[in-house]
Amino acid sequence: MKNLHKPVMLKEVISYIPPQKSINIIDATFGGGGYSRAILKNFNVSELLAIDRDPISKILSKDISLKFKNFSLVNDKFSNIDKIVKDSRLKNKKFDVILYDLGTSSNQIDISKRGFSFSKEGPLNMQMGQDTRNAFEIVNKYDEKNLAKIIFDYGEERYSRIIAKEIVKNRKIKFIETTTELSDIIKQSIPKKIYLKKNIHPATKTFQALRIYVNDELNELKTSLKKTINILNPNGLILVVSFQSLEDRVVKDFFNHNSGKRWRSSRHYPELPDNMATQLKIITKKPLVPKDSEILINPRSRSAKLRVAKKI
Ligand SMILES: C[S@@+](CC[C@H](N)C(=O)[O-])C[C@H]1O[C@@H](n2cnc3c(N)ncnc32)[C@H](O)[C@@H]1O
Repeated sequence: MKNLHKPVMLKEVISYIPPQKSINIIDATFGGGGYSRAILKNFNVSELLAIDRDPISKILSKDISLKFKNFSLVNDKFSNIDKIVKDSRLKNKKFDVILYDLGTSSNQIDISKRGFSFSKEGPLNMQMGQDTRNAFEIVNKYDEKNLAKIIFDYGEERYSRIIAKEIVKNRKIKFIETTTELSDIIKQSIPKKIYLKKNIHPATKTFQALRIYVNDELNELKTSLKKTINILNPNGLILVVSFQSLEDRVVKDFFNHNSGKRWRSSRHYPELPDNMATQLKIITKKPLVPKDSEILINPRSRSAKLRVAKKI
């Protein structure tokens, strides 16, 4: 299997890795291994523990496993990060860097049978791992109100109610089975002048919403971030590359709450109390974004944001 994924903001990510010092790293979103490969090659890595919920990560990491004895990969969700460490040969270690590069990899989006892409015909699936619900179930079985809520909450789609109504109308005639069937229904639900003006595909937000919901992405991130502080060494870094505003706000809220700022709990992360112990220092006051030259070569990088915090 060929790796189709180009790592995003690799230079920027790597610029935060401590040079020389022997380090333990967790790459919590291995994907095609772009970050892991570059780090193992260029840094003094004692151990690199990679995690990915997608079973294809085992295949895509074979070359690294053969070459680097200090590399190991666990096929699991990063919300289990504490347990993954505890069950590994690194159970007594702490880490100097924990990396997240969120969302899907090109190895998922570009394979039509995975059902992530509105422009490639495939079954309505969208599962990153095997333990989740799938998009077919949601689109064909959830009631209209619930569907509209998911599309609004996770896609921030103004036309969520109309889209949900059209989905329910169409599925009465026959099950909505493919990504392109769904995409056509969404296209018919949104006024043409709106999506032409915005220059984005009309199905973008609804597909994002379904994907986030199917994979419980925001809860995965919240649960995992909370667990990082206990497994980091002092001065250890958390680096997060996010691709849409909902996940970026979770990261921003988590960093702000843990860095002694007077930061009120937001509606995106109401579980965080207003006053928390100061455990982190924010390194990137504003998130870093990719250079124009990277966006030109890799358009998928265009919405990326990198935030970094250090354990104190
Ligand atoms: C953008 S890709 C990472 C690409 C990687 N940095 C590279 O250079 O190839 C995101 C990866 O994270 C994985 N992922 C997303 N959410 C996850 C979760 N909750 N637990 C574990 N892996 C997850 C996806 O399966 C996907 O392979």
